Amino acid sequence: MTDRLKSRARPTRRQSFTTKYSDLMAEGYSRRTVLKGLLAGTALATSGLGFSRAAAATNSPSSLTFPELSRVTDKTDHWPEGYGRQILLKWGDKLFTDSPDFDPAALDGAAAEKQFGYNNDFTAFLPLPQGSASNDHGLLVVNHEYASPYLMFPGMTDEDYRDKLTDEQIRAVAASTGISVVEVKKSGAEWQVVTDGQYNRRVHMGTEMRLSGPAAGDDRLKTSIDPTGTIVFGSISNCSGGITPWGTMLSGEEGGMDIFAGDYTTLPDQELVERQGWDEEENDGYALGRVDARLKFENEPNEWLKFDWVVEVDPFDPTAKPVKRTALGRFTHEGAQVAVAPDGRVVLYMGDDDDFEYLYKFVTSKPWNPTDRAANKDLLDEGTLYTARFDADGKLSWLPLVQGQGPLTPENGFHTQADVVLRTRMAADLLGATPMDAPEGFVPHPKTGRVYIAMTENEDRLPAGEGDAGEQVNVANTRAPNPDGHILEITPPGAPDAPDHAATDYTWDAFILCGDPTDPAAHALCHPETSANGWFTDPDNLSVDPAGRLWVTTDGPPDAGFNDALYATDTEGNGKALPKLFYLPPVGSEVCSPAFTPDGKTMFLSIQHPGELRLEDGEDSTSIADAGTNWPDFIDGHGPRPSLVVITKDDGGVIGS
Ligand code: FEO
Ligand code: CA
Ligand code: CA
Repeated sequence: MTDRLKSRARPTRRQSFTTKYSDLMAEGYSRRTVLKGLLAGTALATSGLGFSRAAAATNSPSSLTFPELSRVTDKTDHWPEGYGRQILLKWGDKLFTDSPDFDPAALDGAAAEKQFGYNNDFTAFLPLPQGSASNDHGLLVVNHEYASPYLMFPGMTDEDYRDKLTDEQIRAVAASTGISVVEVKKSGAEWQVVTDGQYNRRVHMGTEMRLSGPAAGDDRLKTSIDPTGTIVFGSISNCSGGITPWGTMLSGEEGGMDIFAGDYTTLPDQELVERQGWDEEENDGYALGRVDARLKFENEPNEWLKFDWVVEVDPFDPTAKPVKRTALGRFTHEGAQVAVAPDGRVVLYMGDDDDFEYLYKFVTSKPWNPTDRAANKDLLDEGTLYTARFDADGKLSWLPLVQGQGPLTPENGFHTQADVVLRTRMAADLLGATPMDAPEGFVPHPKTGRVYIAMTENEDRLPAGEGDAGEQVNVANTRAPNPDGHILEITPPGAPDAPDHAATDYTWDAFILCGDPTDPAAHALCHPETSANGWFTDPDNLSVDPAGRLWVTTDGPPDAGFNDALYATDTEGNGKALPKLFYLPPVGSEVCSPAFTPDGKTMFLSIQHPGELRLEDGEDSTSIADAGTNWPDFIDGHGPRPSLVVITKDDGGVIGS
């Protein structure tokens, strides 16, 4: 979600339906019919098949055999009986022999540039040797979504840290975000970091990058140090991501605007500023403008347009410049999850994580080349960007964002494709895309061909007839407000083993409407056997494991009275949409991006911001360090540190089975 510095408040207003939707599902209603009923606020007509009583009556509807956790919120983390957990990496760990030891009292930018970063989000395991299916040696590629200065340094609060940070601490904050590439190896039962691994790398705000694609070289991207409009230093607010078939990492920049300071009314394109969103409370997020003059609008009015793109990083070449691929559009990028169409063209699924924003996909013009990695170097610069419209009949249309097509004409301000990608949201507005409830996780299922999308929540969704039309409930976002979020399933045409992800006409259905299924007012939709520990709210990252199960992390449930966590569910069969609670992080943390070795026997999991939600407004982090002494794994003489953990099964088996 785009609240990067603190978690969200939970809304209380709900529509006054009384039907318990999990019961309707048990009676055999289709998911989309349930949505239609919600949208209309009326009783539902029976049609289609959903869960059946017979399915619900079987002993073990889920293929996931782990003993489900009980929901607790405390200072340690929890995993199922029969599993083990190892903390592999923590914020500040050395990636190189000459990295300084972690010392929060003496952190500076130069030190942080050689250490593992803060608040990991996207996490992937790439086997070594490159292209192998190794299960005990590989690269972890991880992005670091944001920093929490008031947790990183003692004696600060979320209200006064901007004034209290020293210039060196500001540089350390900037260097603690970005991306880490870390070689890891299994030795016996334990995983280890390979210090000085040949691919180890940190990407941060000082890393030189290239801008490519339709907007590269545009006058709007030219600055004093870059008269070409093709160079940018740094990537920040990296959220989720993806891995291309040729083994590069894609990282979504989400909310880069927040690092800028100054008077936004001095910027040349006020219409775009307004559409992109500007929040006075969020801006100047890390006081970076004090040490980096380009981050003040008055100094460099074009610099902000160099952020909020998808960045491609080659983890197998530490000298390669990362590239911001402007063909993929500019918005609040969550991630870019990858599928391949039957003809070899590469398809990227992308969410724009803000309330009422859209779904996108990008289809390359050319197929990827599996035998010549270098031939794929600039594949993501040419192709078609699409946005999505959901219809009530279950049809999903991908609408091309191509200059000269449809309403994207000079008369409407779109003279070039650069105009389209720089003003992506405005182009999608004109095409009539469906405004979603803050889309985040977006993952293609490699076995079934279906694609899953997590809408985290939308406190501001309005009932029909209230406010602007785009803010009202629609066929795919039916609850007003939607404090719990939902997961949709979209299906491209073609056989399950050859889905055509490049097609423009899909079908769609609901998968889970999050929330408490025993609370009629929540209008939740999940398997009728979902336990009191298994239902969740605020779905964020989605992953599919090698066995085909869907893993869901959450971002927001502390507002519901329990901690964020990791859940798993089948996507087919009798256990479809039956989530089970698998892992609980320490209080105040968020779990992100479960990643698996090819055999599914090792899971890597990122733990963000432990302790964050224990802080009241105005409270400084010293209180967490003092209170957290029985939290030894995450405490290191200072405070709880964001970490990356490894989970394995005691019997060496496949996770979840
Ligand atoms: Fe960074 Fe959209 O979560
Ligand atoms: Ca997210
Ligand atoms: Ca998150």
